[in-house]
Amino acid sequence: MYGGSWVLFSYEDAAALLRDPRLTNNRANLPVLALPEEERGQFDDFVSFLRTWTAFYEGDHHLLRRKRMDEVFRVLTPSRVAAVVHEVVNRLIDGWGGRRSIDVVQDFARPLPAMVFTRLMGAPESDYAQLDHWADDIAYLFGASDLTVEDVSRGWESAQLLVAYLRDLAADMARLPHNSILGGLMAQDNPGFSFTEAEACAQVVLLMFAGLEPSRHLIGSAVLGLHRFPEQRALLAEQPRLWPAAVEEFQRFDPPVQYIGRMAAESFTYRGHQIEKGQLVLPHVGSANRDPKQFTDPDVLDVRRRARHLALGEGVHRCVGAALVRVQTGVAVRTLLERFPGLRVSGHLKPIWHSYVGFHGLQSLPAWL
Ligand code: HEM
Repeated sequence: MYGGSWVLFSYEDAAALLRDPRLTNNRANLPVLALPEEERGQFDDFVSFLRTWTAFYEGDHHLLRRKRMDEVFRVLTPSRVAAVVHEVVNRLIDGWGGRRSIDVVQDFARPLPAMVFTRLMGAPESDYAQLDHWADDIAYLFGASDLTVEDVSRGWESAQLLVAYLRDLAADMARLPHNSILGGLMAQDNPGFSFTEAEACAQVVLLMFAGLEPSRHLIGSAVLGLHRFPEQRALLAEQPRLWPAAVEEFQRFDPPVQYIGRMAAESFTYRGHQIEKGQLVLPHVGSANRDPKQFTDPDVLDVRRRARHLALGEGVHRCVGAALVRVQTGVAVRTLLERFPGLRVSGHLKPIWHSYVGFHGLQSLPAWL
């Protein structure tokens, strides 16, 4: 992958290297690295755009931007997020009318995070499908293993369309709710660091790329996980206070982000292996989260487990949307199962998984209501 890289499978190694300052996340050129060298130059503007993403900064530059993003996310209090998710979930479910079967992914897990984020971001919810479509084109560049020039062109074009959309939205700041994500990122009256308008739009593109796809994967896998471990579903029905722990366990069991990419900023030796400057190092979350040295019976979904998993990352780059993910997943899966206590995953129509190597999630999960 990417012309040779180090992949770390154990929990201990993955966690240690995610905190290791000798590794950098300064990898804005990742999508073009997969292309033949002679094709890369045409995407210089795209790489410059990606370089403005907070995720690709390091050290003090990262801290400044990250602090600002965390401040913006603080307006998303758990009760506010829960209320929005509840409302969207119930509306989605009401839209099924008298249907007896659904696809848990296509009818529920897929639209839900996009609808919720579109609203929290400050856009009309009715635009969610278009925004989700653009975000998908960008996410593909970071999730797929074989990229073509067409894929990268499509991703860049979608990023530009999304930025044009956000600029239009921001042009009328008075219409943007004051507690919206875009409004917060655009605000200039902060005591510390402020993003420029172009940077603020780029951060929203980052949030949509980073947030939508894994969120829907987590909801889909959680429903499948509870189907495969019915005694855990029964336990949650009996003891709803276990839901927060269950959401952690869903993340440990089937982490939507399978590996995290880093690049060696210097040459160094790690456990007897010589890692050269510039080489890619991939702590494998999917494997670390099932490491038997860290977790007893790792292949068993156990909602009572107090799992310190790596699904949302570790160290300074850990997930900005962690609190949102936790509330959204809990409210969504719980409400679905409470409204349909008889929901059964179809026995003969098999779940279909995405073939990406980076993101892990379902494309389809047929179920009876
Ligand atoms: C189940 C859903 C999600 C999963 C599994 C997930 C996972 C992750 C992981 C593993 C990282 C660390 C990446 C690294 O170390 O390089 C990360 C970072 C990040 N996540 Fe999430 N994420 C999810 C949802 C979200 C949401 C909903 C948002 C925002 C709306 C979001 C925004 C971000 C951002 C901006 C970063 C980069 C942080 C930085 O580099 O400082 N994520 N996420």
